Amino acid sequence: MKNITVSTHLSVYENLQELPESVRDLMEQAISIRKKAYAPYSKFRVGAAILLDNGKVVLGSNQENAAYPSGLCAERVAIFKAGAIYPDAKIVSMAITAASYTNQTTAPIPPCGACRQSIAEYEFKQDESIEIYFMGEIGMIYKSDSLKNLLPFSFDKNFL
Ligand code: THU
Repeated sequence: MKNITVSTHLSVYENLQELPESVRDLMEQAISIRKKAYAPYSKFRVGAAILLDNGKVVLGSNQENAAYPSGLCAERVAIFKAGAIYPDAKIVSMAITAASYTNQTTAPIPPCGACRQSIAEYEFKQDESIEIYFMGEIGMIYKSDSLKNLLPFSFDKNFL
């Protein structure tokens, strides 16, 4: 028997002001779209903004449903939209923010497992890393240089 140890790496920005201007602009777009989320059941709004290599920005927010599992996370709304509208563009970066109606979210909110798997598909497809920035409503922003840092041992087409 032997062990495998996996380590990961994230960068931490103290607040929006500390972000490079272009990233701050992307996060501000994520904040704007977050406010339009349809989240009457969880009361937890999420916004995602994706920057493509053609300069376009694609936005998404979580869309809930009375049949709960039929809803979709903001990250997947945005990434599927990007894939549908700009199938040949590469994703450069993604900014994610979440806020609850009921309490102020101060911790950076990472994408859920299903969203990580979905983002992984596009990173494999384009064979270039996607930078991922995520935050709560206020406070620190975490940055991952690649989806791989958030999802070690991801499943991909090579296993099929
Ligand atoms: N949600 C997202 O939009 N992204 C995530 O990565 C985590 C969760 C949404 C789904 C649901 O509408 C609400 O947040 C509560 O789980």
